[in-house]
Amino acid sequence: MRIPLVAGNWKMNGSLSSTQELLAGIKQGIGAIGAGVECAVFPPFVYLAEVERLLGGTVIGWGAQNVSEQQPGAFTGEVATAMLLDFHCTYVIVGHSERRTLYGETDAIVARKFAAARKAGLTPVLCIGELLEERERGVTEEVVARQLDAVLELEGIEGIEEAVIAYEPVWAIGTGKTATPEQAQEVHAFIRSRLARHDAAIAAATRILYGGSVKGSNAAELFAMPDLDGGLVGGASLNAQEFLTIAKGA
Ligand code: 13P
Repeated sequence: MRIPLVAGNWKMNGSLSSTQELLAGIKQGIGAIGAGVECAVFPPFVYLAEVERLLGGTVIGWGAQNVSEQQPGAFTGEVATAMLLDFHCTYVIVGHSERRTLYGETDAIVARKFAAARKAGLTPVLCIGELLEERERGVTEEVVARQLDAVLELEGIEGIEEAVIAYEPVWAIGTGKTATPEQAQEVHAFIRSRLARHDAAIAAATRILYGGSVKGSNAAELFAMPDLDGGLVGGASLNAQEFLTIAKGA
């Protein structure tokens, strides 16, 4: 039984006051969501302390958007896994497409970040997904398989057992374009079958989130697909009502 996860990736948005306002709104409405869905937020690093202060003792989880694969040391601008544990993060996103395309994170770097997160006891949320040009060339499955295999080769299928996967078609991120529920389902089923080649039970138990312009208005139809186990939500997660509507859809 996979409990859906609705995760809000705030990206580089917000302020201290908007963080307080957003979390107050989410906390107010979360009681109506029920125990069948898990919710988590992913603020910028600098707001983690405030998020911990405001969400500690609630059912809402939190995590970071990125992490270093290195141990603490001379790595200016980076944040280590141990620092995320100081703020009681449960999750950390690794390999978001914006990290891959704008900051040059390769499959190998993402795999090392995934390994570092897992070793520290954090749950990695591994993002994979194809560019528009790759979808048009018909290589979506090849791309997603390559991104997944980089982690499987380093960590084995046991590594995935403790992780969450997010399929994010890059062409549907921040563009207002959403994959149709059928398009998303097709790739989610492919990802699960790829995992099942290693271990059927782990494949069946792994949560695969969909990310790419999930909104209150399309969440329920997306999450009705058998292999979609919730969403990694960008823009719409910055509005408490939208986020809660999406969680209800799960
Ligand atoms: P949007 O929901 O804004 O399209 O972003 C999706 C995403 O990248 C979540 O990680």
